[in-house]
Amino acid sequence: MKNIAVIGTGYVGLVTGTCLAETGNNVICVDIDANKIANLKRGKITIYEPQLDVYFERNLKQDRLHFTTDLAEAVAKSQLIFLALPTPPGEDGSADLSYVLGVAEQIGHLLKTEYKIIIDKSTVPVGTAERVHKAIAANSKAEFDVVSNPEFLREGFAVEDFMKPDRVVIGTSSSKARKEIEELYLPFVRQGNPILFMDERSAELTKYAANSFLATKISFMNEMANLCELLGADVDQVRIGIGSDARIGKRFLFPGIGYGGSCFPKDVQALVKSASDVKYDFKILKSVMEVNEKQKTALLPKIQKFFGNDLKGKKIAIWGLAFKPDTDDIREAPSLYIIEALLNEGAEITAFDPEAMQKVKSILGKKIKFAENQYDVLTGADALVICTEWAAFRNPDFQKMLDQIGQKVIFDGRNLYANEQMKKLGFAYYSIGRKTVKKSK
Ligand SMILES: NC(=O)c1ccc[n+]([C@@H]2O[C@H](COP(=O)([O-])OP(=O)(O)OC[C@H]3O[C@@H](n4cnc5c(N)ncnc54)[C@H](O)[C@@H]3O)[C@@H](O)[C@H]2O)c1
Repeated sequence: MKNIAVIGTGYVGLVTGTCLAETGNNVICVDIDANKIANLKRGKITIYEPQLDVYFERNLKQDRLHFTTDLAEAVAKSQLIFLALPTPPGEDGSADLSYVLGVAEQIGHLLKTEYKIIIDKSTVPVGTAERVHKAIAANSKAEFDVVSNPEFLREGFAVEDFMKPDRVVIGTSSSKARKEIEELYLPFVRQGNPILFMDERSAELTKYAANSFLATKISFMNEMANLCELLGADVDQVRIGIGSDARIGKRFLFPGIGYGGSCFPKDVQALVKSASDVKYDFKILKSVMEVNEKQKTALLPKIQKFFGNDLKGKKIAIWGLAFKPDTDDIREAPSLYIIEALLNEGAEITAFDPEAMQKVKSILGKKIKFAENQYDVLTGADALVICTEWAAFRNPDFQKMLDQIGQKVIFDGRNLYANEQMKKLGFAYYSIGRKTVKKSK
């Protein structure tokens, strides 16, 4: 059992804190958002993440999971202090380190004599562990280590990924810190997945390398899909054809309307900036960003063409707002880009998402309408646009859809259905990288 503080109780912080409590540790999560902490204290979970509620409730009940706005209390009570703070893009694209370094400075004032380990879970540029060390040391004479421990969890699978990680990356040059952290993570790697120890800089870069590689794979397939449309090939066939090559692998090959979320867009951008700071022109990643920007609205020209470039007053139903299924996260969600483009063209939007509607309401207000369920949203619609591949959209009640929808037209940004099936049902069906199913007469 270890006493642990987690500073920043967002997606990463809350999952980290809860999962570390689940393995028997005593955890105190800190946030400056008093409202969030008040909700968590009364047992109200603040994000949607499968399984998290079960672990959260159990550990609250067992008194292993605590919440506070008081950093001093959390630091005093803990030997291990995790930083799970935001690192949003700054104006020049680099990661904004003000949250991380600000808290580091505060920690410096709070460290007394007892040895503590500060563990950075935020995604941060190379050299940040040294900067955090300096920021703490400027205000403290206490013995401490700063460790880089990038987080690789996927939203929607966050608990599963945290409890059974493919690997744990630990960047440290301190043998004392290494021993403590190895003990902490051993319960999570019982199946033999590795805890990889390396230097701080390599650990920091590993996180950016992983996200940038995955973003590259997605953008590559999106470009391949666009080419398939022009050459009359089917991207699904090409995907299966290349994915069975073990060197390529089957995952992350699905084309769509681009990647979003709080990580890929900002991390690719930050790595390009880090590279340019050391006079390296990271050409591939610049293209990845460019391709993704364009791909977010790849459905728009198809919609415009279908309606003869006149979308004024057209009723468009949207399925899916979250940037991916099984999360309520809408940061950089492609849906928001499509909605904005459609609104600019004068379309009227009604949307449905199983988890993310509240968050979209808070930013779009009354600009769009929302429906109670995936069928109501179709009532009288001139077209359905699919932005997120929620499981409930994969095998819907097609008869109910046909009964509700005004015009039988689907623009599918996630390639959920087979063309033959759409043809049989009489839908006009536009997807990504595949042939179009024309409207039946
Ligand atoms: N979301 C993911 O899937 C994911 C995955 C891996 C890594 N990361 C990285 O982890 C970090 C955190 O990401 P997130 O998605 O959890 O962010 P988030 O925005 O969901 O949460 C950050 C939390 O920190 C709090 N906070 C801000 N300033 C604070 C302060 N001074 N003291 C205490 N709390 C403070 C905020 O109120 C918020 O609750 C980022 O660097 C991100 O890139 C995120």
